[in-house]
Amino acid sequence: MVQPLVDGYGRVHRDLRISVTDRCNYRCTYCMPHEEMEWLPRHEVLTFEEIERVARLLVTRYGVRSVRLTGGEPTVRAHLPVLVAKLAALGVDLALTTNGASLRLLADDLAAAGLARINISCDSLDRQRFAQLTRRDDLARVLDGVEAAIEAGFDPVKLNVVVMRGVNDDEAVAFAAYGRDRGVTVRFIEFMPLDGDRDWSSDKVVPAAEILAAVDAAFPLEPVARGSEPAERWRYRDGQGEIGVIASVTQPFCASCDRIRLTADGRLRSCLFATEETDLRGLLRAGAGDDALAAAVEAAVAAKGAGHQIGQATFIRPRRSMSQIGG
Ligand code: 5AD
Ligand code: SF4
Repeated sequence: MVQPLVDGYGRVHRDLRISVTDRCNYRCTYCMPHEEMEWLPRHEVLTFEEIERVARLLVTRYGVRSVRLTGGEPTVRAHLPVLVAKLAALGVDLALTTNGASLRLLADDLAAAGLARINISCDSLDRQRFAQLTRRDDLARVLDGVEAAIEAGFDPVKLNVVVMRGVNDDEAVAFAAYGRDRGVTVRFIEFMPLDGDRDWSSDKVVPAAEILAAVDAAFPLEPVARGSEPAERWRYRDGQGEIGVIASVTQPFCASCDRIRLTADGRLRSCLFATEETDLRGLLRAGAGDDALAAAVEAAVAAKGAGHQIGQATFIRPRRSMSQIGG
């Protein structure tokens, strides 16, 4: 029997995000530290079978119905379509967040394996700026990856743009124009304090309202009724598609959060900003049965905090950066 996975605030958890690797071929400044990263040794990373076991438990016991694969960069994990097929077989809405660089090679295989949705991260449409941000001169390759995703039939393809003051806050209209032209849904995301270099400060956050005003002035918008997702949706009045804004800092959606996260090394995190983690890998490798795993999952969720408290004195920055948690 399916029972809801509820925390102490009554929030029911139905969305699982799985980091399949901590590695990435990019080093986005807002995500990874500047100096050399030390990647997890292979034996510390969950196998596909271990990931599937955790996902199956969450789906069958608790009615988890959407799963998103993240990283690091998920496509650097060998044989990713094999994992996609295993998870798609669980009957969940399966999505992927990727930097897009490998999609020309992988998009068709991912679609064939049962991947339903794709989000591509891209924070600048200017070649030099893109290279500075990611530490790789790969903009053309990423934009070709977007085309590959469209050709593979993903609809809509979404583009994630993290907006940072003085870095790319002048590109909102250019991104909107690109999205309208390519039929891609652009989602503007507020910069959160999860960057590897600890460079975040509140004055680098560009409020979503400001982005909306800029896009609306160029291409008039109207709101789309909001579901449970963190993105607030707006459509162009001329019918040329829509955009989303994710105001994680200025309008936190923690009160309706339904997500849990599994890190590449098998830790369950109840929040991006959680300071505690639950070691599921240890349990899995010690031969724990489903009831023992489930008890650990329930305890982790029961201990979930109210929200991130960014900007308040009580805010505690997590030890891991975004690339180690998985977006
Ligand atoms: N703030 C906001 N979003 C971030 N991401 C990574 N780092 C940050 C950050 N500091 C998200 C972006 C990106 C995905 C890989 O993770 O959405 O597209
Ligand atoms: Fe890699 Fe994505 Fe982090 Fe950039 S944001 S370094 S592409 S994991």
